Amino acid sequence: MKTIQAAITGVGGYVPDYILTNKELETMVDTNDEWITTRTGIKERRILKGEGLGTSYIVTKAVQELLQKTKTDPKEIDAIIVATVTPDMPFPATANLVADQVGATNAFSYDLSAACSGFLYALTTGAKYIESGSYKKVIVAGADKMSSIINYKDRTTCVIFGDGGGAVLLEPTTENVGVRDAILRSDGSGAVYLNMKAGGSRMPATHASVDANLHYVFQDGQPVFKFAVTKMADVSAEIAERNNLKGEDIQWLVPHQANKRIIDATASRMGISEEKVMMNIEKYGNTTAGTIPLLFWDYEGKLKKGDNLILAAFGGGFTWGAIYVKWAYDGAAVTNKK
Ligand code: UT7
Repeated sequence: MKTIQAAITGVGGYVPDYILTNKELETMVDTNDEWITTRTGIKERRILKGEGLGTSYIVTKAVQELLQKTKTDPKEIDAIIVATVTPDMPFPATANLVADQVGATNAFSYDLSAACSGFLYALTTGAKYIESGSYKKVIVAGADKMSSIINYKDRTTCVIFGDGGGAVLLEPTTENVGVRDAILRSDGSGAVYLNMKAGGSRMPATHASVDANLHYVFQDGQPVFKFAVTKMADVSAEIAERNNLKGEDIQWLVPHQANKRIIDATASRMGISEEKVMMNIEKYGNTTAGTIPLLFWDYEGKLKKGDNLILAAFGGGFTWGAIYVKWAYDGAAVTNKK
């Protein structure tokens, strides 16, 4: 009997229309375009405006596009997993709301929280459902409305993050394509460097917690940077080595978009040249769980069946990981993005 692999058979994405430029940020905090560009690589990011719109809005748009592109009946969907740190509400899960919105009435659905590595964790989980033979169509999404937890008076975080996300469809295949291997790691001792202190069970919302700005992202950038550079490169090199992939065998590095300098360091460690590194940080910033599916969305037209992709991420937790994917279809046939 042939082994079942989980193939990514389609991609959908969504970014809000509103563009927050470095120029506009200059009017909000003591920063400048030159600092943001040289330290992070970011030029602009998208912000979801509109009363009552949460992360489920982003994911619903992405999933609707995915269903339409893959000509999938929502009733055929077995499961929807949404990776996010900005759910619409603590409960019910954002994924439950999305399933309802898109008409996936036969799906079970839940959220998964692993910050910037969330999409990698969710993709690994979704792939296991398919590989087990129990399920045939699983949607894995990664999205965040980071603007809902960012303090636009804190220049160390507000220049970095943005809103957006994407989704992929996983289906079984016995061909030599799909999610081939994954390495996932976490280390909770990193919580002190990157967190949101209030709003959970340890510190529920009070007037005092709001006054102290504890419902916003806190990041001690330098230690996070150091861990990210080392861990993301280590795990990417490890997965390439154990699958006998050299730099020239890899068509695309698909790295979490936190900082262009971290991405460059990872690519250089793996011997991958710049033109083989997916990058859109300049236009969306860091969308946390959204970055990797948004890269698929932007680069779909360039992807060819059989391409070897290394996905890599590092983020809050700390969490980090890398996944080896063999791409399952020629993207140019299904997208008008070049
Ligand atoms: O995706 C989740 C995981 N997160 C990451 O991977 C992020 C990792 N960290 C980083 O990407 C970088 O540490 C940052 C982009 C957050 C910061 O860059 P940095 O090169 O580490 O800057 P820094 O924190 O060392 O700050 C350097 C200087 C400081 O001023 P002094 O003390 O040298 O006078 C900061 O106050 O830059 C100042 N600074 C700014 N200046 C203008 C910090 N933020 C800004 C700003 N505009 N927005």
